[in-house]
Amino acid sequence: RTVFVLNGPNLNALGIREPGIYGGSTLADIEKQCHDLANTLGFAVDFRQSNHEGELVDWIQEAGEKAAGVAINPGAYSHTSIALHDAIRSIDIPVVEVHLSNIHAREAFRHTSMISPVAAGVILGFGPDSYGLALRALAQIFEN
Ligand code: DQA
Repeated sequence: RTVFVLNGPNLNALGIREPGIYGGSTLADIEKQCHDLANTLGFAVDFRQSNHEGELVDWIQEAGEKAAGVAINPGAYSHTSIALHDAIRSIDIPVVEVHLSNIHAREAFRHTSMISPVAAGVILGFGPDSYGLALRALAQIFEN
């Protein structure tokens, strides 16, 4: 079983980008944590990042064909992307939306997510641990 962990724009800059908000971990650190945890949960992780909306759409469609679930941090596309919303609603596997920061405690333009209405659930505000919690949520969904 494979879970796609997808990351949107600017997440490649984690560790350098606004560490006061997003913490000091790099995306490579988070990827390693995801692989380690997925091992103990009994599935594989395919971890990817793109700054391009269409590439994320391609990956969501690909996940629909070959993955058991998706954890996605869509970055700023969370707040704008009908294309990601449509891609997610068109696949039949659970998708968990992830954010490092608590978007509801930030600027008003981050309070709305186009992704949340089509996500199985949302985990936000726990920094890099949000990813691990999302993987655990998926493991729970697989078990049920
Ligand atoms: C983010 C929150 C978004 O508002 C922002 O645009 C990001 C990161 C998060 O993980 O907290 O790029 O998705």
